[in-house]
Amino acid sequence: MTKKENRIEEIARRRGIFWQSSEIYGGVSGLYDYGHIGTLIKRKWENLWRRYFLGLDDNFFEVECRNIMPEPVFKASGHIDSFVDPITKCKKCGSLERADHLVEKNLNESFEGLSADDLTKMIRKHGIKCPKCGGGLDEVGIINMMLPLMLGGSSPAYLRPETAQGAYVSFLREFDVLRKKLPLGLAIVGRAYRNEISPRNLLIRMREFDQAELQIFFNPGMINEHGDFGRVSSYKLRVMPVSSRKSGITHEISCSDMTKKLPKFYVYHMAMIQKFYLEILGVAPEKFRFKELGDEERAFYNKYHWDMELCMDSMDGFREVGGIHYRTDHDLSGHMKVSGTDMNVFSDGKKFIPHVLELSFGVDRNVYAMLDMGFTEENVKGEERVIFRLPRALSPFDCAVFPLVNREGMDAKAAEIKRNMASMGMAVFYDSSGSIGRRYRRADEIGVAACITVDSETLKDGTVTLRDRDSMKQVRVHEKDLPEKIRVFASGADIY
Ligand code: GAP
Repeated sequence: MTKKENRIEEIARRRGIFWQSSEIYGGVSGLYDYGHIGTLIKRKWENLWRRYFLGLDDNFFEVECRNIMPEPVFKASGHIDSFVDPITKCKKCGSLERADHLVEKNLNESFEGLSADDLTKMIRKHGIKCPKCGGGLDEVGIINMMLPLMLGGSSPAYLRPETAQGAYVSFLREFDVLRKKLPLGLAIVGRAYRNEISPRNLLIRMREFDQAELQIFFNPGMINEHGDFGRVSSYKLRVMPVSSRKSGITHEISCSDMTKKLPKFYVYHMAMIQKFYLEILGVAPEKFRFKELGDEERAFYNKYHWDMELCMDSMDGFREVGGIHYRTDHDLSGHMKVSGTDMNVFSDGKKFIPHVLELSFGVDRNVYAMLDMGFTEENVKGEERVIFRLPRALSPFDCAVFPLVNREGMDAKAAEIKRNMASMGMAVFYDSSGSIGRRYRRADEIGVAACITVDSETLKDGTVTLRDRDSMKQVRVHEKDLPEKIRVFASGADIY
């Protein structure tokens, strides 16, 4: 673990953000629980995602499908045959390791897409040993990453490894209900399960995690069109194509230039994704990029595959947080073959199987990235200040309310303000313990963006101080104006 990763974990545990699951039994690797603060932040991220991506088209909707799906679903999708990881077993201590990760770590280079045979050759050539005991390693084999179940003792099923399949098996029904219109978007925000051999890096590689995925079903004959493309044609995408992998350089290329390489429908959605990160989440441009995946690296269902990556110091650089996947008719055709249900639709005067563009995001990785990018340790007048500078829209509470001291009626007034704000639907963090300085520190450590303090002036003229977490600037505001000021502040506007 890097030093920053350690610090984030320590504060996350201490402040109710996240910690290892079943902690009192020693924890389970690859499983993390969110505490009350982490849950508030995660819900906010999910709701921002919903508002933004469902807002892209009147025919985009959220659905909720089960986490358990029967075996034929995954025969059809290809997960039974192809959703595999290369592993090697230590001949001495018996521990299992992800062979590709081991080779990458030892040679300090990325080797995605190598076959089991190639990985065995590299392990032998470079004398790579078991990281736990130094023992020799077996030939590399493959293991399926899905978690199997036996429903009622006899029906084979799996915990879904991606939310996507729920949307594919529901497609025909929704297409009928929604008056047979394309493009049709079906979003699912929910759990996915993968039996990762080497879960690691806190929320980054887990065995149970959340995804927010939007499956856009469209007419493949229209892949080079999008009604709103004109609005983004000169917008510059931050991209790292395969050809720039060695140099690591991120290029800025306009959407219209990107259409020389990729279809318009795909490029338009890249622009919308980048805008989500830069304009809605306020990510600094240099911390975001799309990374192209090469032929050997692409997921087995993808024709075009670019990952969204965010730069996280605690992870030593850019890490994947999502992907934009052109899955063609891979899934619907697979389900047609295995289930016998005709997936053809009649639209725009033609009969065809719709193609799918998938916008896929890992919720936990995105939440972790926000914590990483916002994490700051400063020394203010000799005192250490730890802050999660989360985007204001992800602040776990809309505001914190404190009395300056717990006497002279300030505590009663602060409690009254808290009740009023809460009755207007705001999430308010009330804290009256310790000194005012400590209350600010506690609020900073959980990322609360705005703090309201009731002092002796409040009792005379009804004004309170409103403090900005990031600049520590304070302004006096009348209590009756607070709800509006807090709303404006949360939207990112300057109120000073
Ligand atoms: N439906 C497509 C799909 O599942 P993926 O690249 O395998 O594609 C999508 O996963 C996203 O899910 C990733 O970009 C990542 O953010 C997240 N993810 C994948 N495996 C994960 C894991 N083991 N732990 C946490 N997040 C994970």
